[in-house]
This record gives sequence, structure tokens and C-alpha cells, in this order.
Amino acid sequence: MSFHPIEQAPGRLNRSELAVPGSQPKMFEKAANSDVDVIFLDLEDAVAPDEKEGARKNIIAALNDIDWGNKTMSVRINGLDTHYMYRDVIEVVEQAGGRLDLIMIPKVGTAADVYALDMLVTQIEAAKGYSKRIGFEHIIETALGMQNVHEIAGASRRNESLHFGVADYAASTRARTTIIGGVNPHYAVLTDPEEDGSRATHWGDMWHYALARMVVAARANGLRPIDGPFGDFQDADGYRAAARRAAVLGCEGKWAIHPSQIALANEVMSPSEADITKARRILEAMAEAEAAGKGAVSLDGRLIDYASIRQAEVLVEKARQIAG
Ligand code: GLV
Ligand code: MG
Repeated sequence: MSFHPIEQAPGRLNRSELAVPGSQPKMFEKAANSDVDVIFLDLEDAVAPDEKEGARKNIIAALNDIDWGNKTMSVRINGLDTHYMYRDVIEVVEQAGGRLDLIMIPKVGTAADVYALDMLVTQIEAAKGYSKRIGFEHIIETALGMQNVHEIAGASRRNESLHFGVADYAASTRARTTIIGGVNPHYAVLTDPEEDGSRATHWGDMWHYALARMVVAARANGLRPIDGPFGDFQDADGYRAAARRAAVLGCEGKWAIHPSQIALANEVMSPSEADITKARRILEAMAEAEAAGKGAVSLDGRLIDYASIRQAEVLVEKARQIAG
């Protein structure tokens, strides 16, 4: 290990994160009663300009009045380049900061963006005498944000998670996309011809580099990497495939832009029973080896290295959180 310590963000369950427009209060109760881990009430792109003020009021009332149970509650504010942002932060944190866990910051571009928000939130918390520190979730969804992702990730002790905002990222980088978070058949390799001249096309994942880069920045700073939206909510298999790719790279959650995607995210982002059992056996084997004063740990006749033990610890902790 490096001598540099990595402080881990609070260990919240973040397998699924539901987007709920602040302008649609009729959706709030259903969200509160769902199985989602995190809800973000949106003031940004799902809300039209002439609805921004009303949405802010709805969100403040909902945070104070609805029983959200043990869900983690977040509000997506407008971008720092808009004139809505300062009131989003001041009004929501002043009037509903007691129930707010996180603020989601869209289109974050530089560490200074994070610094500015940290200053504002710190002042409001101090003035209101809040004892709980509100965390930040950042959407990495511009070329600038991706270029500065590492500095952004380390810019505040409030930081908890980085989210890959694939829709805006595509717009910012001018990537050619078909559906939000989906694949493009033109991002493919053509195999060399077989003897009979036939060639196969293998589709690739055009988001691999961006997501992998964000995962590294998040993990190097103790944050949760979360995959963003998948636009076609009729396509459960497409969603599962995208979520699995993200999970394989290290993401621990994915957005749901429709309630039907919550169960899919929870399913893919939860460890399987077999994985949990194996992880528990690894930890038991380690405890037995330690008790017996043995340096090497083995299970089923195979040596277990310390990387596997650390993975097992993470997995067992996740299972404990899910169990509640
Ligand atoms: C999310 O905000 C996205 O742009 O994908
Ligand atoms: Mg976006």
C-alpha cells in the first residue's frame, strides 16, 4: 500500500439511484415507497425553465413532509453557469437541509466548482446549526469534467460519489450515439477474413474508456463510482447488460430514470448468494489461519492472496448493508 491514506466516503448503499423531476410531485410518494437506495429530486434537466421555482418549492415541501424512510435523499441543483443554482442551494439547504443527505452537482468542470459549492453549503450549515454534513455527488458529463475528474474527486471532504452522465457527455464530446447509454453498431471491429472470405463484426462498448477513467478517479479518492442513465426503459436486457458492464469495471450503482429500472439495478449491483458464501468462507479461513499463527491462508486446497481477502471483506460488508 502507498503511504497516502484514502479516506472512504460514508458507506451508503447506492445500487440504484432514481431520478424524479421536481416538477412532478405526484411521483414523489411512489418513489418514497419503492425499493430504490437513493433518490434524487431533480431541479435541472427534467425541469423546464418556467417550472424551476415551482419545482424548488415542491422539493422543499416534499423533503419536509413525506416519509422517505431510510432512503438517501439528494437534490440535483442547476449548473454553476445558470442563475438558478445559488437559490437552489440556499433555499433547499436552508429550508430542508435537515432531511437532505446529498447535493448532486451536474456538469461539474473543475475543482474550483466544487470549492465554490463547498463554501456556500458550509456557510448555510453553520448559520442553520446543522450537525450533519451534506455530501456531494458529482456528475461527470462534460469533456472538461472528464479532463479534470481526478482533481474534482479530491476537491472536497463532502464528495461521496462520481456519476457518469452519458447523455450530456455524448453531447459535450460530440460522440455519435443512438440511445442514451446504449451502444453504437459503428463502434465495432471487423475481423480478418476467414478462409471462405467471411468476416464478423464485434460490437464494442463506446463508453468503456470514459467509465473506466471515472472509476479510477473515484476509487483513488474513496468515492463511489455510479453509472448514469440508460434511456430505453422498455429494454430491460439492454439495461442489465449496461449495468453489468459498469459493475464489472467497479461501479457500485446505476441510475434508474424509470421505476421499472430500480429492480434491475438492485439485482445487478447486489452480490449473489454464491459470492457472499464464498467471501464468508475466505474470511473464516483467514481467521482460522491467524488463530493458528499461520502466515499463508488456504481454502479448498488453494492459496488465498491478500487481494482476495480484501475483496471478500468488501463483499461481506455490502451484504451486511443490503440485509439492512
Ligand atoms: C445525466 O445527467 C446525463 O446527462 O446523462
Ligand atoms: Mg446530464
